[in-house]
Amino acid sequence: MSLFIKKPLEQLMAQAAGDSSKSLKRTLGPGNLIALGIGAIIGAGLFVRTAEAAAEAAGPAVVLSFVVAAIGCAFAGLCYAEFASMIPIAGSAYTYAYATMGEFLAWIIGWALVLEYALASATVSIAWSEYLNNLLGGAIPYQWCHSPFEVSAEGVNGIINLPALGILFFLTLLLIKGTQESAIVNAVIVFIKVAIVLIFIVIGWQFINPVNHTPFFIPEGTPGHDSFREWGIGGVFGGAAIVFFAFIGFDAVSTAAQEAKNPKRDMPIGILGSLFFCTILYVLFSYVLTGVAPWQEFGVAGKEASVAYAIQNYMPGYEWLATLITVAILAGFSSVILVMLMGQSRVFYSMSNDGLIPKVFSELHPKFRTPYKSNMILFVFVGLFSGFVPGSLAGDLTSFGTLFAFVLVCAGVWVMRVKNPEAKRPFATPLVPLVPILGMLVCGALILSLDPFTQLVAMGWMLAGLVIYFAYSKGHSYLRNAK
Ligand code: ALA
Repeated sequence: MSLFIKKPLEQLMAQAAGDSSKSLKRTLGPGNLIALGIGAIIGAGLFVRTAEAAAEAAGPAVVLSFVVAAIGCAFAGLCYAEFASMIPIAGSAYTYAYATMGEFLAWIIGWALVLEYALASATVSIAWSEYLNNLLGGAIPYQWCHSPFEVSAEGVNGIINLPALGILFFLTLLLIKGTQESAIVNAVIVFIKVAIVLIFIVIGWQFINPVNHTPFFIPEGTPGHDSFREWGIGGVFGGAAIVFFAFIGFDAVSTAAQEAKNPKRDMPIGILGSLFFCTILYVLFSYVLTGVAPWQEFGVAGKEASVAYAIQNYMPGYEWLATLITVAILAGFSSVILVMLMGQSRVFYSMSNDGLIPKVFSELHPKFRTPYKSNMILFVFVGLFSGFVPGSLAGDLTSFGTLFAFVLVCAGVWVMRVKNPEAKRPFATPLVPLVPILGMLVCGALILSLDPFTQLVAMGWMLAGLVIYFAYSKGHSYLRNAK
């Protein structure tokens, strides 16, 4: 039987409308969905990578890097919106691929999504631990907040990253308790982090020094900026690859399609609304940050705590804001982890419902109707990374998984238009095939711009996925065995 056996659209629709007492609860409205998107989007990408992109590649033109990355995401976002309104099932890109390109590619994409969601939550939980320790003035002993692969300047060996495990555990419990409860906590966090970002933009605006914005692009010949991706217009694109991480997460909205009250209307609103809102916020934020402090300093002094650095050194009288920003960053990281963990368990839920991974991943809690066993297994898996692996390892792998999924979703929309032109599309991606083609090109180019080591590890991960598919999933697939 063909590797590319497809799940018929009608079967998916029946599944979406199926027995509601046995499926996930529909509790999320458009406001919740936009908040879910913003919850997953604003995090380390904005607070850490903005300064990194300015210092390494774009200078003040990092503002344009955000615009470039947003355009790339918008192509993919428009394609996601068509699918999410059309096939409102929990698995996101995995499910869309099953319907359009067949089981084998669906498996590959589901496997790549683990890189995105599980590794993103691990990466951000490690960053969370770092910021908590910053806030506490370094009170947590080094060995209890670092992996065994890290050694401090004083020669202390890390043992385990306990704060990272702690935040993961707490958020896992919240997810098990219920989607609506999680959505409420997420909404509160989103309110706090957006408020703080807005406060920084409004107050910081008065401290913008126009000298810091000139020249706008890093001039050719600037020491340390030799490659074409580190100065001028090229630097804008180099910066876009760095800040792409800041946009990851809008697609996580689509994993909750089966929990949306009115997915046909609200999925596009949630996906495109959160993307649009964050883009505006990012552009303003990066304009203010590079206007307040000279971008050159972020490479040497500001480093990760760039926002607090800019406030403490260039916004006299507002030192209190630096502490608030750190609290907001902690809150922001928590919601990123929350939505990513939720997204991963929902992808597993769909894969398990199709028989491609064991049944335990789709068993729902008798009372809360959340995939609680899956959440617990995920805690152990992600916890292994969070507790015992350095944070730097996982960030770029996250980008790989995401971009890979974007490419296949763009391709899928096009395939579906050709193969199934009559299907009902509550939201239709404009200008097909132009938008999907541009989406594939931009995301493909960003994959190629990742460093070779990341590409190699990602290939290793994908190969492991192939072994599992042929050893287990292919033989257990419900669709295959029903024929
Ligand atoms: N977009 C998320 C972040 O920036 C992953 O943390």
